[in-house]
Amino acid sequence: MSLLVGIVGAGPAGLLLGRLLQRAGIDSVVFESRDRGYVERRQRAGILEQGTVDTLRAAGAADRLDREGIPHDGIDLVFDGAAHRVDFLGTTGARVWIHAQTEVVKDLVALRLDDGLPLLFDTEVRAVTDLDGRPTVHHDGGSLVCDYVVGCDGFHGVTRGLVPGPVHERAFPYSWLGILADAPPVHHELVYAHSRRGFALASMRSPSVSRLYLQVLNGESPDAWPDSRIWTELEHRLADHRPHRGPITAKSVLPMRASVAENLRNGPLFLAGDAAHIVPPTGAKGLNLAASDVTLLAAAFDQLNRTGSPALLDAYEDTALHRVWRAQHFSHFMTTTLHLAPDQSEFDTHLQLARLRHLTSSRAATTALAENYTGIAL
Ligand code: FAD
Ligand code: DHB
Repeated sequence: MSLLVGIVGAGPAGLLLGRLLQRAGIDSVVFESRDRGYVERRQRAGILEQGTVDTLRAAGAADRLDREGIPHDGIDLVFDGAAHRVDFLGTTGARVWIHAQTEVVKDLVALRLDDGLPLLFDTEVRAVTDLDGRPTVHHDGGSLVCDYVVGCDGFHGVTRGLVPGPVHERAFPYSWLGILADAPPVHHELVYAHSRRGFALASMRSPSVSRLYLQVLNGESPDAWPDSRIWTELEHRLADHRPHRGPITAKSVLPMRASVAENLRNGPLFLAGDAAHIVPPTGAKGLNLAASDVTLLAAAFDQLNRTGSPALLDAYEDTALHRVWRAQHFSHFMTTTLHLAPDQSEFDTHLQLARLRHLTSSRAATTALAENYTGIAL
């Protein structure tokens, strides 16, 4: 039995699925509405969990990650104006890696094109039909009949709407202003800061490039944030971790929302990654969930291809959603522990500070945070 899987979207989910299927000897065609440069430059996530790194290694797509990725063994939590380290390695034996989504995507694109496998840029999928038989992908260049189709086309894609069922959502009353700056990182590990002026996060892309985020109001324009205002605000919120100033090369506002589709399957069509769920970014789970979804799907297609058994494919929705809801809960916990809501009372702020003190003083609480951040194997 030889399978053909149509993959809608060449973000991390679609590209990694294509690579894993290739390793399992299964054919796939990847359709991407944007051009290669756009997909490779889109500035997004930066943290890879151990499980994601393991999958990239098993897929033969981790050469540059192993050379350039920066392992992190913990984070700093700033509150009450002081920094407190959360030790991941010492409590759980696990760590995470700084390796930007842009780099993961560039490597997966290059591998697929070098291997001569179909990756069609500038090819938007308009519809997927025949979901009660062999699904047909209708795209800008024509149509393709497949055995299965996986929607990896993100939150604004076309496949989400083809899987009926409720979608559970939550909007947050704040957004993030994210910048890239040609400046050395604030600290050798990430800094998540709670302050009475709002949340701040200091991350990095390399030893000379910082990635920094500030909580801002919903609907805020980046134009309201000239460079000097950003640096001053970061200095206030990051307390003793004073940022190094440098030229700001990118600036954008990201809304924060949570969304989980109750169903991830309609016959031969499956949803994975942001097409299936969105988490608020505090906790760095989005890219890692996309990777774990397609790792499950690739193993399921492999089982079907080798043995004819659909058992893993039939279990996909439940298995994936347990992990998604764990990550959703952790992202919600990190978000609501660290951000100030516009209507927040002094009581609420004291509860946040009590939670932060507990997280950094109880070994059990620290371990739970570390397990969730580095990725619980479910
Ligand atoms: P995507 O990366 O969205 O890829 C979907 C692909 O499908 C895109 O290339 C799109 O062009 C393509 N597509 C869409 N419709 C069609 C169609 N009809 N036909 C063909 N192709 C189509 N996570 C973090 O952990 N930390 C962060 O800091 C962070 N920042 C983020 C910032 C932004 C602005 C966004 C949107 C997300 C961010 N995330 C972050 C989340 C993380 O980047 C995503 O979870 C991750 O990109 C999911 O990968 P994906 O492949 O599922 O979807
Ligand atoms: C990054 C983004 C996150 O949302 C996070 O929690 C940690 C790091 C980043 O872009 O580097």
